[in-house]
Amino acid sequence: MSGNLGIQRLRAVSDCIRQIAALFGDKKDQKVRVRPKNRKPTTFPCNAGSRYSFTALVWIILGFFLVFHLVSVTQHRENKDSREIQSRGSPLPRTMFRELEVVEEMKNINIPPPRGKRSPRAQKRKTNRWLPPIIEEFLNEDSQLRHIFFPSRKNAVDPMKMTENDSLYYFPGRVWLDTDGNAIQAHGGCILHDERSGTYYWYGEYKDGVTYRAHRKAAARVDIIGVGCYSSKDLWTWKNEGIVLAGEETNETHDLHKSNVLERPKVVYNQKTGKYVMWMHIDDANYTKASAGVAVSDRPTGPFQYLGSKRPHEFDSRDMTVFKDDDGSAYIIYSSENNSVLHIGPLTDDYLHVKNVVRRILIGRHREAPALFKHHGTYYMITSGCSGWAPNEAMAHASESVMGLWETLGNPCVGANKVFRQRTFFSQSTFVFPVQGHPGLFIFMADRWNPSDLRDSRYVWLPLVVAGPSDQPLELGFGFPLWSRVSIYWHRKWRLPNGWSTLR
Ligand code: DGJ
Repeated sequence: MSGNLGIQRLRAVSDCIRQIAALFGDKKDQKVRVRPKNRKPTTFPCNAGSRYSFTALVWIILGFFLVFHLVSVTQHRENKDSREIQSRGSPLPRTMFRELEVVEEMKNINIPPPRGKRSPRAQKRKTNRWLPPIIEEFLNEDSQLRHIFFPSRKNAVDPMKMTENDSLYYFPGRVWLDTDGNAIQAHGGCILHDERSGTYYWYGEYKDGVTYRAHRKAAARVDIIGVGCYSSKDLWTWKNEGIVLAGEETNETHDLHKSNVLERPKVVYNQKTGKYVMWMHIDDANYTKASAGVAVSDRPTGPFQYLGSKRPHEFDSRDMTVFKDDDGSAYIIYSSENNSVLHIGPLTDDYLHVKNVVRRILIGRHREAPALFKHHGTYYMITSGCSGWAPNEAMAHASESVMGLWETLGNPCVGANKVFRQRTFFSQSTFVFPVQGHPGLFIFMADRWNPSDLRDSRYVWLPLVVAGPSDQPLELGFGFPLWSRVSIYWHRKWRLPNGWSTLR
């Protein structure tokens, strides 16, 4: 089918070129007719002094190459997409893709008029004119819309008690309980698929403490408790494996002293050394240390030994992630230069240090919360804007090489309503990982931060699909789509397709 389509397209292209050539031919004739007889040719004498025929020829050749290139790129992408959809190990791939594209719409949110009864903090925020009203509502603990953003604990997802109808379903934004019935504490986290034990591990910030501000102007915070770890075979039922990297209670000079900041831990397994390596954002309460810390363990469940922190490439480093490529090389990606630029650079072979190579990417775009993934040789990344704990618009980016050039594809969020799409469904990206056995299908992990009670921040897990041509005109493609589209589909409730390879 796709082969025939390609031939048809090529025919259409060559017809089109023939028509263009004819058009140029006519013009040439007309011009030649009005030219004074005694005028000498001034251009390359390819044909009786006609510069038009030469220009036309050049344009035709250029046009042909451009159109041919575009046809082959589209064809290549189409083949890739159809390969994906008919691909390996998946009994119902087509159905699966269709199901995931059923995007849930939501009624518009009506922002209630301000009420008398508001907390002093919320009252003060009323004067913050730069905040859109919906973000005001999101940040206001007394908002009438609170239940939309932070459904009550009565609606918690408890995999141990869920009815069969709701079994294995994700409910983005609801409290999610572990196998002991406690709310999962793994914020700003990541998933490690540990092939050795056939288990998924979820690492993240363990924030089950009191939220406060170190001083009037400081961001809301919870003292460092450590990095939490949970294990699962089905990505839905999570067993608490404890705190695998603990905060420091007494030594005030230690990076992990409770008064500091530990955010966005990311764990990768190093095949060569057989070690599990954790990278994280290390900071002081004012976010001026801006460093990256590293820890190592022999087992996925720790304990991790903290090795120290550094400013990578001697630059400030705040939100960060680590990406491990198929060839085993790993990269650190971090917001730098006061969050105005992302930096990306390779780690050493043991993943414990940053090599002395760095690229500045998305310069001047002010992006943070990077989540990088790869599909069919192309690198993709989701980022957020910089607005503290308040949600903002996500962007998808793509590149043929991990070190760039990175191009911005646009907002990947689909469904719900505009307010939700423009705020990443009221969440912030943290990690994207592939669903085994379904090429092109990923899980987008995000945090719905609750700045008035950070321990009650929620998880927004949604299906992310890489398929179809990108719908934004792009810089590198001269206005034509060069990349596949990245879509994060809103679902109030969803589950992975039947037959995805659950680990046993
Ligand atoms: C946004 C970042 O993405 C979070 O990890 C955290 O650092 C907050 N800012 C703090 O305001």
